[in-house]
Amino acid sequence: MIQRAKITVIGGGNVGASCALWAASKELGDIVVLDIPQAEGVVKGKMLDLAQCGPIERFDSRIVGTTDYKDIAGSDVVVITAGIPRKPGMSRDDLISTNVKIVRSVSENIKLHAPNAVVIVVSNPLDAMVYTAWKATGFPTHRIIGQAGCLDVARYRTFIAWEIGCSVEDVQALLLGGHGDDMVPLPRMTSVHGIPVSMLLSAEKINACVERAKVGGGEIVKLMGTSAYYAPASGVIQMVEAIVKDKKRILPCAGFCDKEYGVGGYFVGVPCVLGKAGVEKVLELSLDAAEKKLLDESASHVKDLVAVVKQLCPDLG
Ligand code: NAI
Ligand code: 2OP
Repeated sequence: MIQRAKITVIGGGNVGASCALWAASKELGDIVVLDIPQAEGVVKGKMLDLAQCGPIERFDSRIVGTTDYKDIAGSDVVVITAGIPRKPGMSRDDLISTNVKIVRSVSENIKLHAPNAVVIVVSNPLDAMVYTAWKATGFPTHRIIGQAGCLDVARYRTFIAWEIGCSVEDVQALLLGGHGDDMVPLPRMTSVHGIPVSMLLSAEKINACVERAKVGGGEIVKLMGTSAYYAPASGVIQMVEAIVKDKKRILPCAGFCDKEYGVGGYFVGVPCVLGKAGVEKVLELSLDAAEKKLLDESASHVKDLVAVVKQLCPDLG
C-alpha cells in the first residue's frame, strides 16, 4: 500500500499555520498541527478552515488541529515552531530563556510519540533551539535540522533579483553560518542563470543586498510588530518537500558539524543534502580566508548561545 507522508507541525501560530498552508497547497502529505490546550479552539478551527480549501485548491491531504500528542504518532517529519516570536527592539537571542523550556518539553514529547521522525526546528534563537532539540530527543544528528538558511538565502536572492530586474527563479545563491545578523551570504557563490553575479552588479550593490538580507528579519519585525511567517514557512516546506520526496536537494540548513568547517560539534548553517533520512550529507566547500573568518565568527556566536542553553538547562547533557 502506498502511504502518504505524515507531516506534523508543533505550534499553530503564524509560522506553524503558514507551514500547514504551504504543505497542503503542495499536497505533500497528511498534516497535523498541535498547539497548547489554551489554544485548542483556535488550532482546531484554523485546520478545519484550511481543510475546507481542499476542493478549491485541489488537495486531498487530511488536516487535523489537535492538542493531543497521540495524534503525532507515525509522523515522518515534525516541525517545531512552538515558542514566542520577537517584538520590535528585541533580538532573536532575547527569546532564549522562554523558548528553551518550550522546545525542550516539545522535543521530549516528540521522542515519546514520534521516535522515527526527522525534526526541523524553527523556534528562535534557531541555532540554540536546534541544539536543545537534539539533546532533548537524543535523536541522531542527521534527524535534527534547523531552518534558517532557506529563508535567509531566499531574502538575499529576492534582493539580488530586484536589483538586476530579473526573475527571482534565476538567482542561485548560498549562505553559511548562524541565523543571526552575522549570517554569511556568499557573493562568490551567487549566480544568475549561471552568470557570476559580479558580472551583473557592482560590489557596492551586491553588498547592499547582503546587508539587507542579514537584517531582513528585523526589517519585517519593525514594520509589523512581530516576526515574519510566509517566507519562513515557505523555507520550512522547501525542506519538508526534499525529505518526504527523498529529493536529495542541496539546501542551506543548520546541520550538525563536527570536523566539518572545524566547527566542533554544533549546528551551523551549511549546505546539506536533504533526503528521506534527513541531512544525508554536509557539503564541505573550500572557503577563502575572508569567508572562513566570517563563518568562524558566526559559529562562535552559535557556541555562545549554546553555552546559555547549558546554563539554563544543566541537566540537558
Ligand atoms: P506565534 O506566537 O504566532 O506562534 C507560536 C505558537 O506556539 C502559538 O500558537 C503558541 O500557542 C504555540 N506554543 C507555545 N508553547 C507551545 C508548546 N509548549 N507546545 C505547542 N505549542 C506551543 O509565533 P510565530 O510567529 O509562529 O513564531 C514561532 C517561532 O518561530 C518564534 O520563536 C519565532 O522567533 C520563530 N521564527 C523562526 C524563524 C526562522 O527562520 N528560524 C522565522 C520566523 C519565526
Ligand atoms: C526571521 O528571520 C524572526 O527569525 C525570524 O524573520
